[in-house]
Amino acid sequence: MMKRVKIKEIFSNPKLNTTYVVKGWIRTHRSIKDVHFLSLNDGSTINNLQIVINEKEFSKDLIRNLTTGAAVGIEGLLVESIGKEQSVELLAKRIEIYGLCDSKEYPLQKKGHSLEFLRTIAHLRLRTNTFGAIMRIRHTVSFAIHFFFNQKGFYYMHTPIITASDCEGAGQMFRVTTLDLKNIPYTKDGEVDFSQDFFGKETKLTVSGQLEGELGALALGEIYTFGPTFRAENSNTPRHLAEFWMIEPEMAFYDINDNMDLAEEFIKFIIKYTLDNNYDDLKFLNDKYDNELISRLYNVLSTNFERITYTKAIEILLNSNEKFEFPVFWGTDLQTEHERFIVEKYFNKPVFITDYPKEIKPFYMKLNDDGKTVRAVDLIFPKIGEIIGGSQREDDYNKLLQRIKEMNIPMKDVWWYLETRKFGSVPHSGFGLGLERLLLFITGMSNIRDVIPFPRTPKNAEF
Ligand code: 4AD
Ligand code: MG
Repeated sequence: MMKRVKIKEIFSNPKLNTTYVVKGWIRTHRSIKDVHFLSLNDGSTINNLQIVINEKEFSKDLIRNLTTGAAVGIEGLLVESIGKEQSVELLAKRIEIYGLCDSKEYPLQKKGHSLEFLRTIAHLRLRTNTFGAIMRIRHTVSFAIHFFFNQKGFYYMHTPIITASDCEGAGQMFRVTTLDLKNIPYTKDGEVDFSQDFFGKETKLTVSGQLEGELGALALGEIYTFGPTFRAENSNTPRHLAEFWMIEPEMAFYDINDNMDLAEEFIKFIIKYTLDNNYDDLKFLNDKYDNELISRLYNVLSTNFERITYTKAIEILLNSNEKFEFPVFWGTDLQTEHERFIVEKYFNKPVFITDYPKEIKPFYMKLNDDGKTVRAVDLIFPKIGEIIGGSQREDDYNKLLQRIKEMNIPMKDVWWYLETRKFGSVPHSGFGLGLERLLLFITGMSNIRDVIPFPRTPKNAEF
């Protein structure tokens, strides 16, 4: 056969009366008298190419094997279609079957499987329209992230996945060890003897690349990380994964307002880029799952995100007549119900909340002059909740040292981080965006397990 052409390419520039070779998987096979119609998908687009087969030109055996799910190559002539559903179709001249698909066993025969069921067949769900669309969007978003930072002169920095420090406090960590669990070495005091472990010390999977990212920003100016992060908390919710991907830009000479400006520009860029490049996929998800999806995306592009302080947020909540499950008072962490009220009912747009009480935020956030709040910023999105967490960082050596002591953080874990405040410290800021949280918003899906190919959640690491 000739060289394969992707179906997306054919649709974007169809040359009639030209011979093409396409290769992909059969979605459906129907026939009218002695004419057979396949819809073929090759993953390049949500749109299927219709293949028309004249029964007389092929063997009965071959035609019988053209079942849903089978992998085939077709050489044929592209012609205008008489049918209303498609503009062009391919008249098959040669057919090659790469892989048969037993229709009695193939689980994707019927239409309308639930998302819950599809999670149990994650090895095959990628072949559905829904997951094809989501994965193409996930790719576009990832590409747009690199594109955005590259054109702004940020450097992509690879921070370690295995770490020996647990100082971020962002969540429970997964242990990394090569010790024999059936034969653990102990010290005289009865503690596990990590000096015999692979790294000679206790190690974990990272919850964030931020602390190392800061080291990069204090040398290269503006950097970003984009990698997997791990949190072992037992949160079985539609918004939490044990393994998720985070984007963490870190910028020297940025204050908290510069930080918010960047975050807003960044999110709008990604959404616009996805609308421009994956409209077919978004339209499919819009029509199938969420009729307001596309209008919601356009709305975000044209709105200025709200910016309020934590103290103002508490005031809004106290003055509302809402009955909340969790009590509202200055000093408490905002619960999902509180964030949703502010974002969905009060402002009805994305909201940055800044200047949280220092007690509920990590040690590295810059202390405000009031001595009570820190220059933290969370970005809360309608329907999703928190999608970004960040801050201006404490750049004053003594103040940072004091926070480290107050929070009993072992100096052996953070000495190197603290040293940067001694050698040419500068004001700097950064934030972390959860890729899957953003994808929930962009795809309109409601469960985070459906926007990552193979989700890792408590009691689930299949595939
Ligand atoms: O708010 P977090 O914990 O912030 C940090 O880790 C900082 N070090 C970031 C920084 O300043 N560089 O996490 C950042 C974002 C959250 O806003 C959320 O979008 C996402 O990461 N996130 C999760 N996404 C999926 N599953 C989880 N378990 C998540 N935990 C956090
Ligand atoms: Mg957070």
